[in-house]
Amino acid sequence: MKYLIANQKSLMTKEQAKVFKDNYLSVDNDKLKTIVIPSSTYIHMYDGNTGLQNISPFKNKAYTGEIDIDQAVSLGIKYVLVGHSERRAYNQEKNQEICLKTRLLVEHNIKPILCVGETLEQYKNNEKFTILEKQLKHIIKVMDKPLIAYEPVWAIGTGLIPENDEIEKTISFIKEYVLKETNQEAVVLYGGSVTPDNVEQLERITNNDGYLVGGASNDYIKWNKLVNKVGN
Ligand code: PGA
Repeated sequence: MKYLIANQKSLMTKEQAKVFKDNYLSVDNDKLKTIVIPSSTYIHMYDGNTGLQNISPFKNKAYTGEIDIDQAVSLGIKYVLVGHSERRAYNQEKNQEICLKTRLLVEHNIKPILCVGETLEQYKNNEKFTILEKQLKHIIKVMDKPLIAYEPVWAIGTGLIPENDEIEKTISFIKEYVLKETNQEAVVLYGGSVTPDNVEQLERITNNDGYLVGGASNDYIKWNKLVNKVGN
């Protein structure tokens, strides 16, 4: 079974979000499971059976602008993104804070989707695997059946994508590392510039468990094409 997860970021107006909600395809069968993670301002449109893009690392505290774990539980939230590269880059989130959030989610039976990936500079310096190890090391220890999205930072929103065999090798590395360190089988998705135009090519990768889609997941026509092309 493959996952197709929409990370809609902060991209749509209310009207656009409604058009998406009214027209998008949702699937949950033995071949494909779709999950839409909208901006938290539109979470009510999805009746709780959805995900959040972020969670407060603090519990039951007055933190203006944050979403508390108890609020997520009461909304029926099933998934939360942690460690997305935009939060690492623009909100200075470090692995330690990401680990706190992950632990909190696991304790409350909400599935964290851990995003990992190297920057262009790290890629060019051949530091990819070292960086991935650092991003995984402590956090996978607090996860239960880890769900991980490998997203090279240089592929996010750029239209650039690594070659299939490179993605395959990186996913193998992540799966083997998680198995070695935690004795668990990780589910590993690819993310970064996935569109209906390149997903058939990506579907030839043999060890990937699905996709985390950003930009293309804000357009129901593109999203519905992706739904029809993944997991067949
Ligand atoms: P993208 O974003 O599909 O627009 O590259 C992916 C992501 O940020 O998760």
